[in-house]
Amino acid sequence: MASSDLFVNALLKDHRVATAKELLLAALQDGQKEICSVRPPNPNLKHSYDETIARFSKSRGGPLWFPYLGSGIGNGPLVELLDGSVKYDFISGIGVHFFGHSHPALLDASIDAALSDVAIQGHLQQNGDSVELSMLLTEASKLPHCFLSTSGAMATENALKIAFQKNFPAQRILAFNRCFAGRTLALAQITDKPLFREGLPPTLLVDYVPFFDPLRPEESSQETLRAIQKQISRYPKGHAAMVFELVQGEGGSYPGTSEFFIPIMQLLKENHIAVFVDEVQTFGRTPQLFAYQYFGLQDYIDICSIGKLSQVCATLFRDEYKPKPGLLSQTFTGGTASIRCTIAILKILLQGDFYGPGGRIARLHAFFVEKFLEIAKRHPGTVNGPFGLGGLVAFTPFDGDAEYTKKIVHALFDEGLLCFIAGSSPTRIRMLPPFAILKEADIIAATAIIEKILIQG
Ligand SMILES: Cc1ncc(COP(=O)(O)O)c(C=O)c1O
Repeated sequence: MASSDLFVNALLKDHRVATAKELLLAALQDGQKEICSVRPPNPNLKHSYDETIARFSKSRGGPLWFPYLGSGIGNGPLVELLDGSVKYDFISGIGVHFFGHSHPALLDASIDAALSDVAIQGHLQQNGDSVELSMLLTEASKLPHCFLSTSGAMATENALKIAFQKNFPAQRILAFNRCFAGRTLALAQITDKPLFREGLPPTLLVDYVPFFDPLRPEESSQETLRAIQKQISRYPKGHAAMVFELVQGEGGSYPGTSEFFIPIMQLLKENHIAVFVDEVQTFGRTPQLFAYQYFGLQDYIDICSIGKLSQVCATLFRDEYKPKPGLLSQTFTGGTASIRCTIAILKILLQGDFYGPGGRIARLHAFFVEKFLEIAKRHPGTVNGPFGLGGLVAFTPFDGDAEYTKKIVHALFDEGLLCFIAGSSPTRIRMLPPFAILKEADIIAATAIIEKILIQG
């Protein structure tokens, strides 16, 4: 070994590591051969599965939303459950597994992580891979600073903290009706759902304004501008930041437009209010890596939080928003496997044919649209939509009644397709499918399941 070389490089290049990786991948792929289409539960496993679900529900203090317990192996968009069933996973842990289940590149990154000295890194103990990840994110975002954290909520909290500190003594936040920001004590005050903050003390002062209405684009833009101006006049110098979800995810997959966002962001700039985009759900999923790049908003963004498909979460920000020492720190930044998987994911996304008007994400979304329009034509009144942008796809079954929509999601689960609900009045069915590995044949199979359940009514 040359004197300036590191032991870790010798370890990672060791032929035994390469051989072990080949063997592990071969073993995984042998197991995956059996996971090639939707399969009902194995009756012999039903009893123990139901018992495990009941035990888990009891220990966590409440039932699971649906009886999902994974076995730990899958094959792309298909996942094996502990009851022996195989399902299409079109919600991917609410947007986390963009590369599907048991992806070979993520296995490779995880093996390297397993050889690393620590399972999880933190702000006092970061390895070189955390630096590589931060560099990839600052370069791709064109925002010069990146602070890593373990959850979307923490990345978003950190964003708000730096906005409040920079714009002190402003104490208020502007947000859109129907928005979702997370579930911490502070973020539950922004998230526009009374149920999510029931019994919690008020922690933040939030002023809501209407989001974009695609049926009245120009009037809705003017209404929102007027509403923001009114709040600014009511509380002069009172707002530290405005939170943007450029596509409202939990609210029901509602995208805005550049024409809607730009005048708002200009108004905020004139009033020294931070423009903060929460890209925890949109990151990687729209036809550009960042949704603000897709909408052409690069010049306006002060702070951005990302999460979900990135595995490790992060707050990205401009120079002016650099926090004073002491404001931000946490024990954990991310598991080493998550950090290495994020690097692998970003490299594949940035080098592949994912983004742009003709990229994989735009093409797959268009294919979803085609399939849903076919269902609507064959069975008028069963489905509205699809809505959303890129890898955020939603539809309204019938008239979007909340209870009925939930029933349909459970019926889809039983039939082998994982989706989730979003929004209210109407309640929609939402999908965050694994676009990185999804094929048109998977969309055909999944929409056939949807059509079958819808026509059963
Ligand atoms: C827009 C947005 N912000 C923040 C969060 C919170 O992320 P996490 O659940 O990882 O804390 C979410 C989660 O769904 C989200 O959709």
